[in-house]
Amino acid sequence: MCGIVGYLGPKEPKNIIIEGLKKLEYRGYDSAGIAVIHDGKTKRVRAQGKLKNLEEKLISESFNGHLGIGHTRWATHGAPNERNAHPHQAGEISLVHNGIIENYLEIKAELIKKGTEIKSDTDSELVAHLIWEDIQKTQNLLQSVKNTLGKIVGAFSILVMWEKSPNELIAFKDGPPLIVGIGEKEHFVVSDVQAAIKYTKRFVYLNDREIVHIQGTDVKFMNAKGEPIKKDIVTVDWSEDQVEKAGFKHFMLKEIYEQPRAVAQAIAPYIDTDTHSILLKNIGYEMTDLYKKIDRVFFIACGTSYYAAMVGKYLIEQIAKVPVETDIASEFRYRKPVMPANTLVITISQSGETADTLAAIRLAKECGAQTLSITNVAQSSIDREATGHMYMNTGVEVGVASTKAFTSTLSLLNILAVQIAKVRGKISVADEKQIVQSLLAVPSQMETVLSYDKYFKEAAAKLAEFKGFLYLGRGVSFPIALEGALKLKELAYMHAEGYAAGEMKHGPLALIDKDMAIVVVAPSDDLIDKTISNLQEAKARGGKIISIGTGENEGLKSMSEFYLPLPAAFWTTNPLVAVVPLQLMSYHLADHLKYDVDQPRNLAKSVTVE
Ligand code: G6P
Repeated sequence: MCGIVGYLGPKEPKNIIIEGLKKLEYRGYDSAGIAVIHDGKTKRVRAQGKLKNLEEKLISESFNGHLGIGHTRWATHGAPNERNAHPHQAGEISLVHNGIIENYLEIKAELIKKGTEIKSDTDSELVAHLIWEDIQKTQNLLQSVKNTLGKIVGAFSILVMWEKSPNELIAFKDGPPLIVGIGEKEHFVVSDVQAAIKYTKRFVYLNDREIVHIQGTDVKFMNAKGEPIKKDIVTVDWSEDQVEKAGFKHFMLKEIYEQPRAVAQAIAPYIDTDTHSILLKNIGYEMTDLYKKIDRVFFIACGTSYYAAMVGKYLIEQIAKVPVETDIASEFRYRKPVMPANTLVITISQSGETADTLAAIRLAKECGAQTLSITNVAQSSIDREATGHMYMNTGVEVGVASTKAFTSTLSLLNILAVQIAKVRGKISVADEKQIVQSLLAVPSQMETVLSYDKYFKEAAAKLAEFKGFLYLGRGVSFPIALEGALKLKELAYMHAEGYAAGEMKHGPLALIDKDMAIVVVAPSDDLIDKTISNLQEAKARGGKIISIGTGENEGLKSMSEFYLPLPAAFWTTNPLVAVVPLQLMSYHLADHLKYDVDQPRNLAKSVTVE
């Protein structure tokens, strides 16, 4: 995934690049580096580990040039150490790269044959060598970048500078995102607008196989052949303080607390609060017509977004009566899916950039499906591929483990299920009203369960003694159990498994002993009695139960070591509220164990490689 920042303008680039990289650290954080032109020479500083290590190295450094590039890495080829950190250099060329060069072995063999000295284990360095080799003939950076593109296969975005030309910066995108920030006589090239939002709100999103050529204050966009193209400038209304911690210890905790507002913001455009009905007007004619005709829905997503998709299946099947399949994007794209006519493919992606989900939506289109994207980032790659669009509208989510984007998505899926049902005449006014009223109650219900923050802070030491965690749920609570287990793995590095409660007797029951915690999501719905029977089986084998139920459920409470009551809600919105204690539990366990909550080891927020 990796984060890229480039700057060309009148200011000193070092601090701008470091600040930008800080905003992108969620994309990768195993090494970082920066290269800036100084006194006509390239000065490069790199460091293994988190960005703060690079910052420490840079304290005594100063640069007088106006051009620089920086990178924060998530290793693909080559161990996460300093020699593999970007920028890579070959002769007078410096380059940062995000993505994968598939034919790197052939390129490497060719270069070695020619006597080139290769200094790292990365595929990225090879691209710098190819450009350097070429530029010695052309003496033209743009020409050499274009010549090199034809020799590389893969999904890669690069940012290149040439020592001899300190007023020139070139970027090429094919796969991982690159966005050009247009400032006052200055330009930025970044992986995410957050990295430059302090300086400009005007951005141009590069599409695949597009080049941006910045020379002095002039910026030109072109295709890979060098033919000029016209690009629109998009004004982004995110503010800088959205990417600050606002007094919270971690971004994740701040984002957990932002959920009541995030959900309210996500649903606001779709709800008529006078009639308690869901509006159809913002679907668009094309989608309205489609919702009438669809025979099947496929949800495709990764990670937490996939668990949201699983909740979406229950909602759409039960409310709109349309059959739904869910797929993990990396499976979907290689399983040669059969897409009957009138299939609607819905992708869910907070970032809108996840490589597998992007490939999946493209494949779905090739198979003739219609597409709807649910994302938090308008104009992201996935959003741009889709016909229909819904936006989470939560503002920036910085913590690597997704929280507010998940619950905002669940609220949108409630809306979507009703919209499809309405267009198809499958929902009564009374049922619609019930769903809307439940949705409107979510923000204040979430406020109530946020009080578990203190509870889990105190309980963390005791919970940390368990050797394993089994999360159970049925119906819409099953994906919430999966999400709870994922959160614990991601953040607290503890073994956790999510299971359908009824499936426990087919295997996980064998794992149960006094050291195993059973976390059950059991709000009072049609399935509660069945879930309680499953818990009896676990309890009888010594399992310790942590349960989340509705109100004072004495039956559940009496079986549990820890019982957490939720406010009463309709089944459609239970998942939105039930997940909050699970987020808080994982957060506090990780914090108690002194792990890096916002940037868990080996993970990244936006996974732009396969
Ligand atoms: C990564 C993140 C997860 C996220 C998943 C999908 O694994 O760490 O938090 O759920 O990617 O990301 P997306 O942006 O497509 O929702």
